[in-house]
Amino acid sequence: MGRKKIGLVGGGQIGGILALLATQKELGDIVVLDIPEMESYVKGKALDIMESTPVLGCDAKVEGTSNYEDLAGADVNIVTAGLPRKPGMSREDLLSTNVKIITAVAEQLKKHAPDSFNIILTNPLDAMVYSFKKITGFPKERVVGMAGVLDTSRFCSFVAMELGISVEDISATVLGGHGPTMVPLFRLATVGGVPLTELLPMDKIEAIADRTRKAGTEIVKLLGNGSAFFSPAASAIAMAESYIKDKRRVFTCAAMCEGEYGIDGYYIGVPVLIGAGGVEKVLEIKLTEEEKAMLANSLEAVKKATAETGL
Ligand code: NAI
Ligand code: 2OP
Repeated sequence: MGRKKIGLVGGGQIGGILALLATQKELGDIVVLDIPEMESYVKGKALDIMESTPVLGCDAKVEGTSNYEDLAGADVNIVTAGLPRKPGMSREDLLSTNVKIITAVAEQLKKHAPDSFNIILTNPLDAMVYSFKKITGFPKERVVGMAGVLDTSRFCSFVAMELGISVEDISATVLGGHGPTMVPLFRLATVGGVPLTELLPMDKIEAIADRTRKAGTEIVKLLGNGSAFFSPAASAIAMAESYIKDKRRVFTCAAMCEGEYGIDGYYIGVPVLIGAGGVEKVLEIKLTEEEKAMLANSLEAVKKATAETGL
């Protein structure tokens, strides 16, 4: 059996880090695809990464292209094609441009990689995953959005910073749409098995939850031109790795809900199991009335953006 083939659709900021991380983890051979105007640039990035492999001690072939035929038979695609946010823009401001880009990408991947597992990152996230699923008609197990892994990672980072404790021992879950309505479930957060609510006062936990909701915007403001790219790439690679190695990890991802959490027909962040079958299961948590109300509020934002796609 040969190596897995990984298609990275969009070879910008996140795409480049995805290519490097997938190479370092030896997840497979990598094809970075971008628009024809960017073909030379992604070929350059791919070659640059290839030239680092002897030093890194990793075996992987990395190629750049603008031709979808080079993605034929890809096992996994990670889609970042689209515009990122600039200061002052919301994720929804990106919708009208990015839905056209996702539609074009989805049509091509349906044709050239019909059996692939697809991880979408393009914003506004929940609406773009929905669009990709709608256009490809792929089963829901093979179309998933990356956001909850990142939102959860941000929450855990802030807890680690506050407590001066290793990130390795912090566990948390952030549900809902990828935006200011997301729902950090701090009731369930633990540090080495100890409930976070026993380690920090509620005002500090609320402040961490609030910073998490605004964390993407915080990075946009600091960078001044574009949005976060290291942590989004690391998050998507964790999902791809769980699929490729059948690790069966549980993450919060944007998954198609069909009755779970009382949600029907929308992509939104919920805990899922990712294994060789793709999104094998949505795990349901018993929520408090307050958490249910927060998730319902987040669903309203997701529904609004999804409706704006016109799909
Ligand atoms: P970027 O601008 O650096 O890269 C995007 C790439 O997509 C560019 O190279 C562009 O030429 C390419 N592209 C545009 N149209 C295309 C098409 N039709 N086919 C193929 N490639 C195409 O942006 P960056 O920073 O990599 O972000 C990518 C997307 O990810 C943005 O929409 C951003 O908002 C989103 N994002 C999502 C996160 C999440 O948690 N889901 C986190 C951070 C960013
Ligand atoms: C982020 O959360 C902008 O969605 C992007 O960093």
